[in-house]
Amino acid sequence: MLISDRSDRSDLVDILRPFGDVATVMTSDIPDSPAGICGVVVEMDLRNAINVQQVRDRILGKAYQSMPRLFVLNEALHHCAMQAWALGATDTIVRPFDARGLQQRIRSAFPNTPEDDATAKGRALSKGVAAANLVLAKIFERLPLGIPLTFDDVMQAEAQILKAIKRSSLREWLQMVGRHHNASYRHCLSVTGYAVAFAQHMGMRDADQRRLTRAALLHDVGKAFIPVAILDKPAALTDEERAVMRTHPQRGYDSLAAQGSFPPEMLDVVLHHHEYLDGSGYPHGLAGDAISDIVRIITIVDIHSALTENRPYRAPFTPAKAFATMEAMTDQLDKHLLQAFRPVALGM
Ligand SMILES: [Fe+2]
Ligand SMILES: [Fe+2]
Repeated sequence: MLISDRSDRSDLVDILRPFGDVATVMTSDIPDSPAGICGVVVEMDLRNAINVQQVRDRILGKAYQSMPRLFVLNEALHHCAMQAWALGATDTIVRPFDARGLQQRIRSAFPNTPEDDATAKGRALSKGVAAANLVLAKIFERLPLGIPLTFDDVMQAEAQILKAIKRSSLREWLQMVGRHHNASYRHCLSVTGYAVAFAQHMGMRDADQRRLTRAALLHDVGKAFIPVAILDKPAALTDEERAVMRTHPQRGYDSLAAQGSFPPEMLDVVLHHHEYLDGSGYPHGLAGDAISDIVRIITIVDIHSALTENRPYRAPFTPAKAFATMEAMTDQLDKHLLQAFRPVALGM
């Protein structure tokens, strides 16, 4: 469904056509119930108080609660983006954009598109990816605007993510998240997949699987504060840029610590996931026992995921090459945990 306050025919109708039938409604005509609708795209003047009220009355209601909502912003104004998030946006995109860019956004925000598997397994997978994607949108889109992330935001997604990987597989999760348009989202989504699969492989109890899920989703929260020119640079970083990038653990820690609701364990993961057991990591050069088990696990899945991801400046490592690279990091990673991770890494 396209909610539009334009008097002419929106160009979005044609862009959205490949996803199925597009029902266009004015802000005053939004139906009470979204029966038969798989997602909502909103294109409106977010400074028009009457229209904003009409949209708020409908799409913040219970009937629309689980529906993906993509807001198309006409300009990158801070208060328009804030308004979109306040109206329950699950993602935003700013004009001008090309049709393909918007279509990629739709596929990430609404993974349950006709090309995807319509079985119960496929639906669980789509829901899990959408839930994880929403947390990452809150991290990468809202945090830089000054809207705090809450611990509750993260916990809401856990059950659906665990169910998605339990019902389908790590391979299917990675295939779906590998199509995401944004490299930072792609990375956090695949780290989350590896963390969940590792937790399930080790037979961890449900509460521990949840702890690992949330740690993986959150580990790179500080990247939300790194300039996009560095974060998405299509080449290797210079020394100066790398120094900026290496501030992300501290910046993420500062942001979550200031928020107040995150347990110490999550702050530990965010701050220390680049530390190595031999003291050669950053930011604090911690060594040995100073590095907790949950941090050791996230470090392993983080590195494996990064090595096997596609980067613009190098080909992805095969799982075997990535695992061999990690085995060569003898004093840096926890040997026992790394061996326990082998079947998950090589099972891909
Ligand atoms: Fe990181
Ligand atoms: Fe990472």
